[in-house]
Amino acid sequence: MSMTLLSEHEALLSAARDARENAYAPYSHFTVGAALDTGDGHVFLGCNVENASYGLTMCAERVAIGTAVTAGYRNFATIAVAGPDGVVTSPCGACRQVLAEFNPNMTVVFTTPDGPVTTTVAELLPHSFGPLV
Ligand code: THU
Repeated sequence: MSMTLLSEHEALLSAARDARENAYAPYSHFTVGAALDTGDGHVFLGCNVENASYGLTMCAERVAIGTAVTAGYRNFATIAVAGPDGVVTSPCGACRQVLAEFNPNMTVVFTTPDGPVTTTVAELLPHSFGPLV
């Protein structure tokens, strides 16, 4: 876990903050944006999309993964996650599992009240269950 932010991570976090503007969160009012970097020049965005049937809520991270996979990309180097000021917005357990599906070594940058934290999926989800292929 690192508190120093590389410039490419700062740019990705900025994209995540932009995506957060489009979050649909009328129930929790907790808006989140995610930016997923393939590492070879492509960035895919996501925001959380809530529903009146609360359990159907989609997190920003999984929306970004779905957007990227739909476009034909499956290799991901880094994801940046931006939440509201004043709270830790690390990926939830379900999103950690979905990120691990594609790359347990993926870098994860997320916002906290003390500034962005840089870590990896493997650090957030140790001993993860992997693909059966
Ligand atoms: N949420 C995300 O989109 N990503 C996270 O990393 C944390 C939680 C969303 C889900 C829900 O719409 C709202 O934040 C409150 O949990």
